[in-house]
Amino acid sequence: MTSDKKDIWNGTAEIQKCIKTKTSSIFLSFKAEKIAKKVTPGQFVYIKTSGLAEPLLRRAFSVMDSDRKKGIIELYIDIKGPGTQSLAQLNKGDIIDIMGPLGHGFQSETYRNENILIGGGCGVAPLIMLAKELKTLGKRVHFYYGGRNKEQLTFIPMLKNIVDTLTITTDDGSTGKKGVITNFLNIQQDAAIFSCGPKPMLRALAAIAPNAHVALETAMACGVGVCMGCAVPMSAGGYKRCCTEGPVFLASEVSWI
Ligand SMILES: Cc1cc2nc3c(=O)[nH]c(=O)nc-3n(C[C@H](O)[C@H](O)[C@H](O)COP(=O)(O)OP(=O)(O)OC[C@H]3O[C@@H](n4cnc5c(N)ncnc54)[C@H](O)[C@@H]3O)c2cc1C
Ligand code: FES
Repeated sequence: MTSDKKDIWNGTAEIQKCIKTKTSSIFLSFKAEKIAKKVTPGQFVYIKTSGLAEPLLRRAFSVMDSDRKKGIIELYIDIKGPGTQSLAQLNKGDIIDIMGPLGHGFQSETYRNENILIGGGCGVAPLIMLAKELKTLGKRVHFYYGGRNKEQLTFIPMLKNIVDTLTITTDDGSTGKKGVITNFLNIQQDAAIFSCGPKPMLRALAAIAPNAHVALETAMACGVGVCMGCAVPMSAGGYKRCCTEGPVFLASEVSWI
């Protein structure tokens, strides 16, 4: 789904939970009924802690889950710099500035009966929402989850409750198969392929499966298609904006150099 400008909501939201993990990440949930009703898998929200002068710009995060009835959105956030550090200090009842849902997400017309989802790092977040939607529609979901080591694989318990098959790899072999996840894919011809994660993983996937639908996470400024700060080079030449024409692209469309 792509957000139409009239569907984008800009306002504030109240934090429900901010749960810290062992790996410098947080699960953040807040009430934003208008966004929760409309957001589809692969779309993102643009947020910052209310009332802070720094950082000036909001930060982009994929929606990991949306409870349409309760109006609650859930995100998974890796703590990196000032924007995410300030979000990690939030407590229940605190307020964030939020805009969304934004972007062109995974398209329901591309879903098949068999679906292969490949994720790494915080890129698993949008795939959780996608996997839940696919299961609600009665589709099969084969999930490939790769990470550097066992400690990095935060989503294993959650994924076990959602997907039909789960293949795990780690670079150091501390759990699952040893090696990078793209070396272990079993791609059925009639399956749809969806992925989000580190760029080297997406680049390797594009070489194996150019028909994969990949969600990119470029740095952003305006978030709504005005500044060209998120331009993604295309294989046919020229650029597309990650915030409006993306974040989901066909792997073959993107220039991976
Ligand atoms: C569509 C979209 C969806 C995203 N979804 C998620 C998500 O679900 N969970 C999550 O944790 N993060 C996600 N990100 C990345 C997130 O937006 C950045 O990590 C965040 O903006 C960093 O802000 P900061 O102020 O903490 O760090 P900054 O000080 O802005 O950056 C810290 C370091 O991270 C690098 N960096 C900044 N932005 C990105 C980026 N987009 N990709 C890679 N490196 C970056 C910077 O170059 C710098 O080295 C998403 C980004 C996009 C565009
Ligand atoms: S962030 Fe400004 S055009 Fe995409």
